[in-house]
Amino acid sequence: MVNKVIIKKLNLWFKENYVLKNINISIPEKLVTAIMGPSGCGKSTLLRCLNRMNDLIEGTKISGSILIDGRDIYNNIDVFDLRKRVGMVFQKPNPFPKSIFENVAYGLKIHGVKDRRIISEKVEKALRDANLWEEVKNRLSSSAFDLSGGQQQRLCIARALAVEPEIILFDEPASALDPISTAKLEELIEKLKKNYTIVIVTHNLQQAARISDWTAFLMLGEIVEFDKTEKIFTAPRDKRTENYLTGKFG
Ligand SMILES: Nc1ncnc2c1ncn2[C@@H]1O[C@H](COP(=O)(O)OP(=O)(O)OP(=O)(O)O)[C@@H](O)[C@H]1O
Ligand SMILES: [Mg+2]
Repeated sequence: MVNKVIIKKLNLWFKENYVLKNINISIPEKLVTAIMGPSGCGKSTLLRCLNRMNDLIEGTKISGSILIDGRDIYNNIDVFDLRKRVGMVFQKPNPFPKSIFENVAYGLKIHGVKDRRIISEKVEKALRDANLWEEVKNRLSSSAFDLSGGQQQRLCIARALAVEPEIILFDEPASALDPISTAKLEELIEKLKKNYTIVIVTHNLQQAARISDWTAFLMLGEIVEFDKTEKIFTAPRDKRTENYLTGKFG
């Protein structure tokens, strides 16, 4: 097992609010790592550290380091390039007000791909990889808003895949979806981990248990426990993890 991401002594403050406290975890390559924990514990913030999305929030202060393939992403790197390597899918599907085709082509265009044939090929591949192609191939020029919620979420995944990232971050990607769309999304994540390193924030314990290989349990900004998912769910080391899993709080 190779570690794709190594987080060392990571601390984060939003102004006076001390949000992430001495986080030390390593995220394995081409597996699914889940981050779970009670609301407000810092899951989304931790996820956003991995593509430096918190930089956009005023008053953010960060110490420590995050290495991706051995290189510190907080030290002298191109953030535009980082966000190409580390794609993100959000809680609510957020397609652009453009056609299905243009949503997926967008990332390619901003990264300088001009050849129309190459763009078309890559759009098709991304839509196929996102398990959406068959449903949209005859209406690529329709608005993305004409799709169902589950389809929009897969479109957002296709948009992320089009630029060929190495890591994909998912922040509660199924919380706005019905059970069938959720099942399709989980199936898709299972397929994607063959080629990508995946980190997913989820509130849904069953979902974490189903799809992740490793699980980090976060509380009040601290990692309580980080282990193989099976271990966390069958024999947690920490009482707080056990309490959370048995519904005593959270
Ligand atoms: N943009 C922001 N500006 C200031 N504080 C923020 C911002 N986003 C989050 N916070 C604060 O950081 C802490 C962690 O929030 P975060 O969104 O990471 O929690 P979470 O675990 O993802 O919660 P949830 O499960 O409800 O999504 C909270 O105290 C929150 O108020
Ligand atoms: Mg969150």
